[in-house]
Amino acid sequence: SVAPFDHLSHVESTSQLPSGAGRISRPNAVVLGEAIAAEEVDLVVPSHDFSRDALVSSPEQYQQMYKRSIEDPAGFWSEIASEFYWKERWGPEVCSENIDVRKGTVKIEWFKGGVTNICYNALDRNIEAGNGDKVALYWEGNEPAQDGQLTYAQLLEKVCQLANYLKHVGVGKGDAVVIYLPMLMELPIAMLACARIGAVHSVVFAGFSAESLSQRIIDCKPKVIISCNAVRRGAKTIHLKGIVDNALVESTENGVPVDLRLIYENKSAMDRETTKWQEGRDIWWQDVVPQYPTKCSVEWVDAEDPLFLLYTSGSTGKPKGVLHTTGGYMVYTATTFKYAFDYKPSDVYWCTADCGWITGHSYVTYGPLLNGATVLVFEGAPSYPDAGRCWDIVDKYKVTIFYTAPTLVRALMRDGDEYVTRYSRKSLRVLGSVGEPINPSAWRWFYNVVGDSRCPISDTWWQTETGGFMITPIPGAWPQKPGSATFPFFGIEPVIVDEKGNELEGECSGYLCIKKSWPGAFRSLYGDHERYETTYFKPFTGYYFTGDGCSRDKDGYHWLTGRVDDVINVSGHRIGTAEVESALVSHPQCAEAAVVGVDHEVKGQSIYAFVTLVDGVPYSNEVRKSLILAVRSQIGAFAAPDKIHWAPGLPKTRSGKIMRRILRKIASRQLDELGDTSTLADPSVVDQLIEVSDH
Ligand code: PRX
Repeated sequence: SVAPFDHLSHVESTSQLPSGAGRISRPNAVVLGEAIAAEEVDLVVPSHDFSRDALVSSPEQYQQMYKRSIEDPAGFWSEIASEFYWKERWGPEVCSENIDVRKGTVKIEWFKGGVTNICYNALDRNIEAGNGDKVALYWEGNEPAQDGQLTYAQLLEKVCQLANYLKHVGVGKGDAVVIYLPMLMELPIAMLACARIGAVHSVVFAGFSAESLSQRIIDCKPKVIISCNAVRRGAKTIHLKGIVDNALVESTENGVPVDLRLIYENKSAMDRETTKWQEGRDIWWQDVVPQYPTKCSVEWVDAEDPLFLLYTSGSTGKPKGVLHTTGGYMVYTATTFKYAFDYKPSDVYWCTADCGWITGHSYVTYGPLLNGATVLVFEGAPSYPDAGRCWDIVDKYKVTIFYTAPTLVRALMRDGDEYVTRYSRKSLRVLGSVGEPINPSAWRWFYNVVGDSRCPISDTWWQTETGGFMITPIPGAWPQKPGSATFPFFGIEPVIVDEKGNELEGECSGYLCIKKSWPGAFRSLYGDHERYETTYFKPFTGYYFTGDGCSRDKDGYHWLTGRVDDVINVSGHRIGTAEVESALVSHPQCAEAAVVGVDHEVKGQSIYAFVTLVDGVPYSNEVRKSLILAVRSQIGAFAAPDKIHWAPGLPKTRSGKIMRRILRKIASRQLDELGDTSTLADPSVVDQLIEVSDH
């Protein structure tokens, strides 16, 4: 049913609104005259000009398209898919799915039988359409003076050379390739080269430690690892090659040696003379890849052949290898990019995410390039050399669409408006937010100060698992509410359920689930389909369970409230409490650890760890430091706890389960909200914990 949207159909055409309607309404200011009730003071309406030129320019148009996408998904998605090149068209069944565990194995297939290639569609197809000379990638290095660019034709040549090299060394269809690179152009090049030959890439964020990298290598057993010698981030140099070497010692001990290491010489960070090297095994990218032909035939693959694996954290156990396939992912990332950012061919698009995360996969590499867009790749840190760097870059490249995470918005907001207003930013048209809920005050600052009250904000809610945007504004179509991700994308049916799995109607709050599959959905967890079913499809039978809480207001707007499981979101990075705990307890002096997330002004959440030491070990700052080091070296610096709270004991039920609810309250000092502690095996533990935290 599309009923939740009906109430807004009176916002007939936003293009008929008085000029100035695009400004943020101040409390009690009437933006829409009579049209919207007085309490809707926080509606932000797209400007006349924006809506007039938008792909979707009114709520009615959105509703029509949405209705069609739900009532006739096969027709809706087939039409869009037909805009791509398919060597062979898909079979009669556009989508076949079972997401109900009661009916058997969970299985999702889109465009089955269709034969295509995502690299061909991103590059060759756009070149054939006359865009060969259009800039595909701009690259801005760590230092403001370092930059580069590749047109679509040049990018294809680079991709082909690497693809030919990979084929030459024996990488073929279905083989895994691990990519551990910073944001150089070589990162999207490597992804596309794998896709071209049907190899399955697994990009590991270059902030992960050797231990995390080796864990992923052991799981997916790549034929080759592609990395670089070092990278500079801000004022620091990080020796990635050393991390790769350590990871491979570990993986070799576990029976997974990777014989070929293709290393890009990132000269601005480190030259080859100072790089530790093993002749015969390590190969410099620059020594081999440029010798290969600049044309490479395409490996045509089935729509359901795997495209990539991307590891992500869950509430328990080791990271999960989220598996995405080719056809549906291609159609879905391209379409979501186009509509959520109201893409125009003249846009210059910049997403600050790293390709090591899903955002970089879908919205640095695939989605934009499939649309023939010009994409900026930024290697550096957004606050280096100073907090104005982003806007310096926006002006330098005339960026029109700027997509980032709330944590960066909050950090820049704290640094003051001066860093923003000293730059023009006139080119900006659309802003985007992703990774965590954006609080209304950060939303307003982003809108008013960065976007000069001119640019709609697409607050896109989605996940590694969903492949692309699920709930997102379509700028131009809808009035926005600061902090709300608004409405579902085409083809997506979100439902909010109570703990028993009953669908809630109207204004409500509960667990966010999705009914029916969508083209970009993940198809499995690598090597563990059972965990796929248990984690996502069993908690609420008949639905995909997202792990997020959500409320819906009386106008049908969605408000994401964060994870409801043991996953913490630090600066938009997803971290499992279990992973941090396991890193802590691996420390020889740690007896037990329990980790919770607490609210943090800039990072959204930060990691708070309760630690019990082995009997007889004195609690000291040294131990504290070495515990933090254990987490940094086992996961990565981004997962380091902000606080270690010494815990003489942990609050456990009689059956030995740690009561995190209580720990969360202690961590955030909400001591009058501890709730019932009588079910604890030893209730006095709570008082001890409170006492210790005062020191
Ligand atoms: O809790 C939600 C939060 O990030 C989680 C997904 O993390 P990950 O798979 O790493 O992907 C991040 C980039 C898509 C979600 O379960 N999240 C992501 N975007 C939003 C969000 N929470 C609120 N609003 C968002 N726009």
